Amino acid sequence: MDVIFSLYPFFLDWLDLIVRWIHIVVGIAWIGTSFYFNWLDSRLDRTTSKEDLEGELWSVHSGGFYNISKLKGPPKEFPKELHWFKWEAYTTWISGFVLLIIVYYLNAEGLLIDKNISDISPITAIAISVLFLLGSWFVYDFLCNSKLINHTTLFSITCLIIVLIASYFLTKIFGSRAAYIHVGASIGTIMAANVFRVIIPSQKNMVSAALSNEKPDLQQGFSAKTRSIHNNYMTLPVLFIMVSSHYPFTYGHKYNWAILFFISIIGASVRHYFNLRNKKQYKPWILPIAASGMIILMLYTSLPKIQVTENSTSLDVQVSFSEVNNIIKYRCGVCHNTKPTFEGFEDPPLGIIFDTPQDILKNIKKIKAQTIDTDIMPPGNLTGLTDSERIKINLWIKHGANINN
Ligand code: HEC
Repeated sequence: MDVIFSLYPFFLDWLDLIVRWIHIVVGIAWIGTSFYFNWLDSRLDRTTSKEDLEGELWSVHSGGFYNISKLKGPPKEFPKELHWFKWEAYTTWISGFVLLIIVYYLNAEGLLIDKNISDISPITAIAISVLFLLGSWFVYDFLCNSKLINHTTLFSITCLIIVLIASYFLTKIFGSRAAYIHVGASIGTIMAANVFRVIIPSQKNMVSAALSNEKPDLQQGFSAKTRSIHNNYMTLPVLFIMVSSHYPFTYGHKYNWAILFFISIIGASVRHYFNLRNKKQYKPWILPIAASGMIILMLYTSLPKIQVTENSTSLDVQVSFSEVNNIIKYRCGVCHNTKPTFEGFEDPPLGIIFDTPQDILKNIKKIKAQTIDTDIMPPGNLTGLTDSERIKINLWIKHGANINN
């Protein structure tokens, strides 16, 4: 039994890695096919003289020539095998949810909850997480079925405001990284549910209508088209959010919810540029505006976030390494040690250790990024690092991070 318990953390790490790998692979397949079909539709040669064709396209790839044609309506005779492209979406969502369980639910105290933000129990946090994911789909679906859907601008603004409010509240409930991932996960849930609940049913309806020689349900077809446009706009923001969970200057920022909001707008507008271009409408000014937005955001987030030096006199205070070493030993070393003593940690997280002065020096930039520029570490401030201790570490780094004094 003991052996099983001691193997559990390794097992969990491996499971994390494997599921993450699957999630990325199927996610690439999903977004890849979605980009490909968008591109295909925009590049079809519609001047074709073939009567039953809407357009066709020639391409060459990996040693073969492909001639793809898009029919005006359903085929007269259905082929034995019709490909649907749905499992990419489903498996991305399923693997994503399993990853949420492995990384956040099983380590709710460490990563989902931040006791300084909100002191909730793991069960409550997990319940909020699941309800939030389900709830975001219902709210979105409700909006799509309301009259609002006929007013594109108003609909988009309403959705953006809801994202803004949701992000704000999430950062007041969960730890910052978990809050970010939940915004991403809710967008991912909406995208996958769009495929599952609307797009695939509409395609099934098209096929069965064609087989029984009836007219397909036009309203259903319209909804499916709208939902796939929405999915298209959500791809870039959702990818950004997923990747940003590895960059503390985004999720660890004081106004992380606002950053998320601006990134979503920038991501969606870049997508908008390409969608317009595919329709042969050229609006090149969108790109420089988006790029400038990104640069402004970059500059803004590079400013130090925590006021670690309240007044200029404190800048002159010399802090000895032994003092800093003690702080790091007690506040960080319980986890970041070759043999961590913090419950639940068999190995130092990400292999980062502060056993010797050299270990600390080696990681100095990262320490600054995680504890001075942001308050990501210690996670949820589990070991109670105080502000004055942060100031001391900062001053010591500012004065050259000397390990010999
Ligand atoms: C309760 C355990 C715990 C404590 C205490 C803790 N950490 Fe961490 N630390 C973690 C975990 C878990 C990760 C990995 C997070 C991840 O997967 O992104 C981590 C990651 C890091 C990283 C690497 C981040 C990256 O993405 O490269 C640094 C640097 C770090 N911690 C510094 C510190 C410092 C400095 C302290 C003390 C002020 C500290 N940690 C205290 C658990 C802890």
